[in-house]
Amino acid sequence: MIARTTFAAISILVSLATIAWAMFWPQAYWLFVIIVPLVALGLHDMIQRTHTILRIYPVIGHIRFLFESIRPEIQQYFVESDTSGQPVSREFRALVYQRAKGQRDTRPFGTIFEVYRNGYEWVDHSLAPQPVRDNDPRIRFGGPDCRRPYDASPLNISAMSFGALSRNAIMALNKGAKTGGFAHNTGEGGISPYHLEHGGDLIWQIGTGYFGCRDTDGNFDEALFTEKARRDVVKMIEIKLSQGAKPGHGGILPAAKLTREIAEIRHVPMGHDVVSPPAHTAFSSPLGLIEFVAKLRELSDGKPIGFKLCIGKKSEFMAICKAMLETGIAPDFITVDGTEGGTGAAPIEFTNSVGTPLRDGLNFVHHALIGAGLRDRIRIIASGKTFSAFHMLRLMALGADTVNAARAMMFALGCIQSRHCNRNTCPTGVATQNPARYKALDVDGKAARVANYHASMIANLVELIAAAGLRGLDEVQPMHINHRVNNAEIRTYAEIYPSTTERCLLSDTDIPEVWRQDWDRATSSAWKRAQSKSTGKIIGKGDVTRHGDGGRNTMIDDLRTIDSLMERICAALPMGAHVGRDVLRTLRREAPEAVFPHQCDVIEVRYAGDEGGILCTLDFGDHASTAMYIVSITHVTFERRNPLWRDIEGYKKRRIKRLRRLQGGAV
Ligand SMILES: Cc1cc2nc3c(=O)[nH]c(=O)nc-3n(C[C@H](O)[C@H](O)[C@H](O)COP(=O)(O)O)c2cc1C
Ligand code: SF4
Repeated sequence: MIARTTFAAISILVSLATIAWAMFWPQAYWLFVIIVPLVALGLHDMIQRTHTILRIYPVIGHIRFLFESIRPEIQQYFVESDTSGQPVSREFRALVYQRAKGQRDTRPFGTIFEVYRNGYEWVDHSLAPQPVRDNDPRIRFGGPDCRRPYDASPLNISAMSFGALSRNAIMALNKGAKTGGFAHNTGEGGISPYHLEHGGDLIWQIGTGYFGCRDTDGNFDEALFTEKARRDVVKMIEIKLSQGAKPGHGGILPAAKLTREIAEIRHVPMGHDVVSPPAHTAFSSPLGLIEFVAKLRELSDGKPIGFKLCIGKKSEFMAICKAMLETGIAPDFITVDGTEGGTGAAPIEFTNSVGTPLRDGLNFVHHALIGAGLRDRIRIIASGKTFSAFHMLRLMALGADTVNAARAMMFALGCIQSRHCNRNTCPTGVATQNPARYKALDVDGKAARVANYHASMIANLVELIAAAGLRGLDEVQPMHINHRVNNAEIRTYAEIYPSTTERCLLSDTDIPEVWRQDWDRATSSAWKRAQSKSTGKIIGKGDVTRHGDGGRNTMIDDLRTIDSLMERICAALPMGAHVGRDVLRTLRREAPEAVFPHQCDVIEVRYAGDEGGILCTLDFGDHASTAMYIVSITHVTFERRNPLWRDIEGYKKRRIKRLRRLQGGAV
């Protein structure tokens, strides 16, 4: 209330003082041009009921909102270091800008990366570098059922719709793709006139809204699809199942960015957010998806058809593999997106906490296809935080044939990462439908930058391959990439990521245990998992939920190690067994590489009944502190039934108490 009283007092005093002054010098009345609006604003602030802070601090409370609105810019210009910017560091933004502008992109004086931090990665070079086979590598898309294969560049523009991006941004991307000879994914918003103006190769994406090929009820329209898919400029078609930044959530075009033109292109009403449904209506099962792939291939006159997804439940992807095996129909490509992917707009819970990160999902898809004997028929595209050629290389090491980039291409267009893409106030004209803003984006100039960036990335990729002593992209292997696990331990991707052997999933005796449960659960006729059998057989990994209270960020890099440990625990436990430290001791012996580097101590492993799961309390002690993780591995059915899981926090507290007792209060 003090601020309100002060405001009232100052208003009266300043007004009286001005009147008094004006008696001697009449020009002083002009000061009321400033005083009256400020007093009016203050009175409005005190009366309004929306913002408490303004009611308490009239007028000056606005400073807080002003700073809040320019926080990203202040952060970017004054606070962040070269490596700390989020989601993309200044180091990589600057790299894209330099390559796009054709400026010098070398760095003086050495790396600014901390090469001894956990998670630092590098590629092994060779003492015998050699020239690569092809300086402009192309990758053929189109399996045996495809009549119009497409030879793609290793780097292409990832899906971003007209709607999320402005018309000038779309035109610049497409013209850049035409100039540089690579492909431009339309995003789920459909093919707009701006995608067609410059004739760059298109990958037409079809999302759950079927924009561009929907009937009046919003369902898939065969005739509309056929007409557009047969256009020469459409080289491939991608069915969007999910996107890393918001898997399980349909696309969102905020009402603020919905223009009449976009509404007409998409056949949607004005004035509301355009939210696509989370699931497709054209199919409802893995078999349905695969049949839809075949249908689109026919309707498009034999063009490569694929789908894009972020990996969630592994058994669901395996169900798609089973559907492929049963029908003999395979997509020509699969695009794997990671949860770290970008978006025009998404709910924060989805962006932060739903979906598998790209490298884990990509490795899984690659090896699931190998295990199912399908890999040689299907190309894999990976998208997620590709800014440098090394980013491309490491995705290729994990199984990607080509890579898509979205945000890097936005940087090439001039995006400054102000992160207002969902508000129609993009300061660079990239992600806005406001003509005053997007008209400032020069299509020809930015198209040249997009093409420059692409060309420079390919040239650098080829150089990296040569430095690694390889002859071509097809020779890149997981063992070529190193990952620092901790100060003293380095592992290659081959040692870190789970793998399969050719067709191993097809023979019951060859299935690796960590893949078995998901494979057994997968069923081609439904997305829903089949119930696990209570046959006394080994029960494998289910949904993994981590409840960590270690509070130490340094642990995060090592969570995969915990997963791996968990997988082995699950694989080793017989149905209904009660297990304790003995099993873990055995596991340590059998799988020493799976043991947490801080010497994980397993306090308890509880196996919980028929349809149950495993609750594992792990104690990661180090010299400084002791942390505890409770890792629960459950089946969905169990999670619903057992009260233990409804009260995981309570359970955790009881465990911590017990640990305290065990360790004399050290936890
Ligand atoms: C502004 C924007 C719009 C996007 N729109 C789509 C879309 O329509 N369909 C889609 O599948 N992904 C969409 N994405 C995700 C990207 O295609 C890509 O998968 C993701 O951003 C990861 O790539 P990146 O890390 O190179 O940005 C969009 C991303 C951004 C930044
Ligand atoms: S400049 Fe800001 S609002 Fe515009 S595209 Fe980039 S992040 Fe989005």
